[in-house]
Amino acid sequence: MAQTNPKPWGETTVVGKPIPRVDAYERLSGAAIYPLDVLLPDMLHAATLRCPHAHALVKKVDLTKALQMPGVRAVLSDADREARLPWYSGPGGKPVSRLFDPHCRHEGEEVAVVAAESPQQAWDAVRAIQVEYEKLPFVTNMEDALKPGAPAVQEGGNRAATPSVYTRGDVAKGFAEGDVVLEETYRTSCEIHTTMEVHGSVAQWDGDRLTVWDTSQGPFPVQSSLASLLNMPLSKVRVISHYMGGGFGSKLGLSRYTVIAALLARKTARPVKLFLTREETFLCVGNRPAHSMTLKAGVKKDGTLTALQLTGTGEVGAYPGGSSVGGQIRELYKCPNVRVEETSVLVNAGQSRPMRAPGFPQCSWALEQMMDALAEKIGMDPVDLRVRNYTSVNQAQKDIPYTSAGLRECLTEGAKTFGWKEARARPKGTGSVVRGVGVAGGMWGSAGGPPATAIVSLFADGSALLNMGAADIGTGTKTVMAMVVAEELGIPLDRIRIEWADTGTTQYTGASGGSKTVPSDSPAVRAAALEVKSKVLEMAAQQLKVPVEGLTLKNGEIFTPGGSQKVAIADLASLRGQRSVVGVGTRAPNPTDKVARPFAAHFAEVEVNKRTGEVRVLRMVAAQDSGRVLNLLTYRNQVIGGLTMGIGFAMTEQRVMDPQTGKMANANWHDYKIPTAKDIPADLVVVPVDLHDTEWNITGTKGIGEPATIPAAAAIANAFYNATGVRIRSAPITPSSVISSLAQGKTQR
Ligand code: MOS
Repeated sequence: MAQTNPKPWGETTVVGKPIPRVDAYERLSGAAIYPLDVLLPDMLHAATLRCPHAHALVKKVDLTKALQMPGVRAVLSDADREARLPWYSGPGGKPVSRLFDPHCRHEGEEVAVVAAESPQQAWDAVRAIQVEYEKLPFVTNMEDALKPGAPAVQEGGNRAATPSVYTRGDVAKGFAEGDVVLEETYRTSCEIHTTMEVHGSVAQWDGDRLTVWDTSQGPFPVQSSLASLLNMPLSKVRVISHYMGGGFGSKLGLSRYTVIAALLARKTARPVKLFLTREETFLCVGNRPAHSMTLKAGVKKDGTLTALQLTGTGEVGAYPGGSSVGGQIRELYKCPNVRVEETSVLVNAGQSRPMRAPGFPQCSWALEQMMDALAEKIGMDPVDLRVRNYTSVNQAQKDIPYTSAGLRECLTEGAKTFGWKEARARPKGTGSVVRGVGVAGGMWGSAGGPPATAIVSLFADGSALLNMGAADIGTGTKTVMAMVVAEELGIPLDRIRIEWADTGTTQYTGASGGSKTVPSDSPAVRAAALEVKSKVLEMAAQQLKVPVEGLTLKNGEIFTPGGSQKVAIADLASLRGQRSVVGVGTRAPNPTDKVARPFAAHFAEVEVNKRTGEVRVLRMVAAQDSGRVLNLLTYRNQVIGGLTMGIGFAMTEQRVMDPQTGKMANANWHDYKIPTAKDIPADLVVVPVDLHDTEWNITGTKGIGEPATIPAAAAIANAFYNATGVRIRSAPITPSSVISSLAQGKTQR
């Protein structure tokens, strides 16, 4: 049997190296089959009729004309009994809507879906459906939603839940102890995931068995939600999520289109493909909710934080969704007195969904600008203030220690690489173009864990198959996991085949989200490979008639201690007889007396044109503690992606709601501004603080996806302040907000 507690890797030959993706050819050549590419014989295409109003009741749906249109095979609406399934839950998990609920609470809610022989025929039929709506008053922002007499989004009012309150110590006492106490309100805008690949599914029935090709971060969670909604055994629902083009949290769980595709496929006894258009994806598959955060903080002259108090409100859309931003207030910096009060507000817009580090970039926008302001008030360097308040224990969990906590290294190593001291000392410029630098620290709130199972099979010729359930959401999961097998078994990467992300043929794991894939799945993969290895060494010991202790496996050969005897895997008689050896690995539980968090520190230099309001990010440095680096190349890619997303959050991205109609005004890739190549500096430097977290799991990893984006926007905001002496507390920092803030700043002085 494999050791449950193997020694950490020492010198490695594969792990940690910058290795290109094992599926680069498929991805670049177009050979990779994404769900949108799936073409099945007799497949129908579906298109959705969506409510065009911000808030309306569907009084009547007339399908007569649509059903007579050429190529139309079925229409599904609330008139179909089988489509009356619960969707969205409110307080206590009670369903508050259904699949085609006649009460449409935002633009884009589903009214009916057509399946036809071609996508064009489906869209023609959608346009032929006649709907009678009763328009209702609506509300598009949290300020209006909380006014007395505001239109109610849900029957219970516009507060999504009772406020949650966290306290430790005594904030009043803490503020009294502070030499400086500041209070400011910070705002962030609603961001859309804007995945490169649009959302959708293909569904096919074979008798009572359902197969779904879904663009998903987690085929297993989709399988379980779908099975429970359709009242089917798990074994009869197969979800395949091989290639996908970006999710960022909007593809973590079961989506409405997937259920509808399955129902239409059952109704027509034909496979059905239902994909959203680019515009639809802006309205109804999630967003990062807008936030308002009032933060009060106290600090002593020596830099000791005395109290932190956050009052946060998230604008979650028409249905309750996650919006907590308190994580870093509770945990990131040492502070005895903390109070976090959070609430969320309903508006007539699409529901929020997790988006890359849900809540954390928002919190960072407030907390890290506040840390910057406190540092200035007490005359301390912003890096030093953060180092001063470093903690190695989790204050929100009774001070249990972190297995590793590299925030200090991130700050100091990052500052060194950035040239922080020198950059701070440089003149900012005297004309209309000025420069400044900023820093922000950050952490992410989890680091993976069970359950995850993986299987490694070694064949008689020394090649191997890795079987794992994890989806590779574009981050390089397959490559990293194959590297773990290659490391343990001494097999070249190109001799390893991977079966993945298919609930019908691979092993259970959760969704690839929460930065958990590597720290959850790679230990299971290593355990599976170790079981294969121990079986192979046993075979070699028997064949060589030597004790198994001390045998080593290298480059497909097993050596006795000292190397006097050896045998190649391909020459093992018992393996040739058996044809394969199988190892099953499961993710062991996390330690209970400690907890892991990934950390980061980001540095930015910006240039501000005070005449035009243009801000350019000139360069960034990101120092990351995500535990052991398994693949330096995919690690760097992830961090650069995280910085890019942070630049979008800080500078350009913003859902705009039209107050006249309650509709989204920029639901397309032209008007919703994600950063382009011209907005992203070429000078992005990644500093891996490669602390091996051997107490957390057997690969020493903590996760990189989300900590790579968390502090980026706040570092840019602090650099803007450093350049101009004016704070912009609302994201994004646009040319018009720059011009008006600079004008205001001038009159205040
Ligand atoms: Mo992430 S928001 O867990 O995909």
